[in-house]
Amino acid sequence: MTHPAFRIQRDGAVARVIFDLPGAPVNKINRAVGGELGQILDQLARDQETQALVLLSGKPGSFIAGADIDEFVALKTREDAYALVRRGQELINRLEGYPKPIVVGIRGACLGGGLEAALACTYRIAADDPDTRLGLPEVQLGIIPAAGGCQRLPRLIGVRQALDLILAGKQVPAAQAFRLGLVDELVHPAILERVALETARRLAGGGRPRRRRWSLLRWVLEGNPLGRRFVFRAARKQVLKRTGGHYPAPLAALRAVEHGLAYGLEAGLDLEAALFAELATGEVSRRLVEIFFATTALKKDTGVDGPAPPPREIRNLGVVGAGFMGSAIAGVAVAEARVDVRLRDTDLRQVDRGLGAARAILRQRRDRRRITVYEYRRLERLLSGGVGWEGFGRVDLVIEAVFEDLQIKRDVVRALEAVVPEHCLIASNTSTIPIARIAAASRRPDRVLGMHFFSPVERMPLLEVIVTAETSPHAAVTAVAFGRRMGKTVIVVRDEPGFWVNRILAPYMNEAGRLLEEGESIEAIDGAMTAFGFPVGPITLLDEVGLDVALKAARVLHEAFGDRFEPLTGLERMTADGRLGRKSGRGFYVYEGGKKRHVDQTAYEIVGAVPRAGRPRDEITRRLVFAMLNEAARALDAGVVRSARDGDVGAIFGFGFPAFRGGPLRYLDGIGIAEAVRTLAELERAHGSRFAPAERLVRMAERGERFYPTG
Ligand code: COA
Repeated sequence: MTHPAFRIQRDGAVARVIFDLPGAPVNKINRAVGGELGQILDQLARDQETQALVLLSGKPGSFIAGADIDEFVALKTREDAYALVRRGQELINRLEGYPKPIVVGIRGACLGGGLEAALACTYRIAADDPDTRLGLPEVQLGIIPAAGGCQRLPRLIGVRQALDLILAGKQVPAAQAFRLGLVDELVHPAILERVALETARRLAGGGRPRRRRWSLLRWVLEGNPLGRRFVFRAARKQVLKRTGGHYPAPLAALRAVEHGLAYGLEAGLDLEAALFAELATGEVSRRLVEIFFATTALKKDTGVDGPAPPPREIRNLGVVGAGFMGSAIAGVAVAEARVDVRLRDTDLRQVDRGLGAARAILRQRRDRRRITVYEYRRLERLLSGGVGWEGFGRVDLVIEAVFEDLQIKRDVVRALEAVVPEHCLIASNTSTIPIARIAAASRRPDRVLGMHFFSPVERMPLLEVIVTAETSPHAAVTAVAFGRRMGKTVIVVRDEPGFWVNRILAPYMNEAGRLLEEGESIEAIDGAMTAFGFPVGPITLLDEVGLDVALKAARVLHEAFGDRFEPLTGLERMTADGRLGRKSGRGFYVYEGGKKRHVDQTAYEIVGAVPRAGRPRDEITRRLVFAMLNEAARALDAGVVRSARDGDVGAIFGFGFPAFRGGPLRYLDGIGIAEAVRTLAELERAHGSRFAPAERLVRMAERGERFYPTG
């Protein structure tokens, strides 16, 4: 082989097997790699001198990223998928049955097939550094760990802990992996290789690996079939609740684990292979893999088309407005980007509350052991605030999150420009005000743009970076790079009313309001959309977003685009009545102690509706979904997002468009554009011009085009 994936370095009785896939940023396991490793195992098994093996990665900061996703998406038939996974299983079985001990030294991502391989080896040592993460993320790609992961993980760390990792595709840092018993030893990265070699030597000399005892709880719950049945039942219930039954992989993984424990490893492997073959060639997995590649590509996207200037590194961040959004932005910036943050508000008490809220984000990470106590203390010191502009003389970026009022925002821009350095960018976290109108107050509008975060900032993964016609490419790439440092998936959006997310949400929410006014029950409307796969229905979403905020957005869109965005009078009456949604304890639902309790029956009266219509669910679904799809096509046509990919990622990460449907534009491709146009025309006839098919769709239907070139 001209470019082998493995190097072998002999060191007395120990052979180091170093995995370093040529020309690839990460190690991944494919047919060629498997074949080569098989030959190496043959060769070293015969080699008299070699008594033990150490498996390492030659890529700094990355161990093995799993099976090669490109290879499995190319699978056309179940038979091919079955054959592929069987080969993978055989290879890993060989590791387990290998006549000489194999020690694994893990540094960097050890995922999927990489972890399955490690689980089959004799002893696992992990480097304790931030790059090291272990997990079986397969279900996130719509498949299951099928090279023995569903068998060996529960046997090693216990059923409950294994299910916790497998069913959500969770990845854990090295220290947690050690606590779980996933790895046998945790060492400083500098000594990983040395410790691995010493361990291999010890094992070669007949030493036995240390093994952990079962905890009492594990004995009680998992040591007998009855206890196990209880564990599985609870897990199944939880999966169904989380996935609404739309994602087959976690349930399949659950079956593979249960079956293997009941009938033995081999039977478990048989079922893993059969389930994998079915899932890997299924639609859900296709959609999830497309999203994986879309987000991977987005990570590298500079944010501008063509050659991009390098982003400026942000060292000091200013945040203006210490309210709910501002303080969360400050907290996440410190926690993720680890920059120095100066928080400013006009009221000292508010500054204090804001700093407290920002610190709470750090504290939560400390309590969940995502950061150490030491890191917490260091990060906490990066946060400061005040009522003056102290510290703003050295900020590189300011994110403004003051009250949604154009005049106030313009005043902030002017005040900032008197104190910030010339290079500093000013970003507004507005959700409704056009950035160009804010930038009009600026002396240098090329450095003004939007950074639209979603609430709660620490949990919502999306960031819209909004550029005006005047925003410079340098400002755009800098904001995109910084957003990514804050851990966000970033899409660049043109400065049009509603940007992307609110633009396509608004007609959908409006349609929900219309259905309500026409006499559909809140439960029926929300239920139709959760059944479609949204995490929450549109009425609940209104409550979450805040009815006042939604109304404001609706008015802006109405002003810009006319009738199809006409806000409902019911919404105005609700806000006038002080029902702002969750934050006020009352909206369409009643909230108690921060929890949604039940539909507020009096809401119907305020809206002026009597819930008795009882349309078939399909009809409700069609109206809601097509209102959104149509607007997505329109907004893409207007260049609001740069590509269908960005639009789909924005919808999935911005408000939970069902990932298994691939995003609104991919979903339109799936329906067929011509069919979608027909449906919209029907809806238009029945319900009015707001459903008139977007020109883009009509054009595409005539030409037989799709949003994505291939299905
Ligand atoms: N198969 C194929 N390609 C993979 C891959 C895999 N399992 N894992 C990563 N890659 C590719 C990415 O697509 C990207 O390709 P590109 O450079 O051509 O765009 C490249 O490797 C680097 O990945 P990226 O995600 O940009 O690097 P990162 O350092 O930010 O993250 C990982 C690395 C491994 C954490 C991340 O890529 C990941 O989660 N991979 C998938 C893991 C997985 O699901 N494994 C189970 C597979 S069944």
